[in-house]
Amino acid sequence: MSQYWSGRFAREGMIWGSQPSPSAEQASEVFRAAGLGSVLVPGAGYGRNTKVFSAGFTTYGIELSAEALELAEEWDPATHFIAGSALEQQLNTQVDAVYCYDVLHLFLEEERRRLIEASLAQLRPGGLLYFTSFSDEDPNNGCGRKLEPGTFEYKEGKYAHFFSDADLRSHFAGTEIIESGSFVERLQSSRGGTHEYILRYLIAHKIG
Ligand SMILES: C[S@@+](CC[C@H](N)C(=O)[O-])C[C@H]1O[C@@H](n2cnc3c(N)ncnc32)[C@H](O)[C@@H]1O
Repeated sequence: MSQYWSGRFAREGMIWGSQPSPSAEQASEVFRAAGLGSVLVPGAGYGRNTKVFSAGFTTYGIELSAEALELAEEWDPATHFIAGSALEQQLNTQVDAVYCYDVLHLFLEEERRRLIEASLAQLRPGGLLYFTSFSDEDPNNGCGRKLEPGTFEYKEGKYAHFFSDADLRSHFAGTEIIESGSFVERLQSSRGGTHEYILRYLIAHKIG
């Protein structure tokens, strides 16, 4: 996995351009309205979305790819980036909120559970989480070799899990879910093209 992403960041740089996802702006509004002060972004990439949070919150980003981290430190110097796996706890402090954009669907079931567990371990009781991931309504769902229920190798050497609303909610069964829904994400690539994905999002409180 890390080789795949490092290769892409090395070749393509800021793969999805510099504009943040509208979901980062929505999450930022939700966190601000709740009076929160710190945000963790697991799988932060090159900082396209962390920059939304670092403008108003103490922000931490965890990222595995050294190539992405090099871009991130330049693009968003206000975020504290940590080199490492988001499947393990990296912070020795707990944050008020977690925003995780399009990372959960990259993993098979056991690792998806580990990502959620590690994220919750770094979130204070009562804190908020906002996750996005591929939707089962996306046209890539069901394409290619099936690896696990809902998980397909939809491009050669690249697989993803496609979530129904019930599936996404069941992953967060140990939390108090506030809202879930879906939206179309339009991405501008660094090479000038655009493409669309259908995503789901979920907002929840950590119980405790
Ligand atoms: C689809 S990209 C999303 C990037 C970022 N969340 C954004 O909003 O632009 C997935 C990112 O997760 C990173 N990643 C994959 N596995 C990881 C892991 N175990 N720990 C931390 N980051 C990981 C990849 O290097 C890549 O930057």
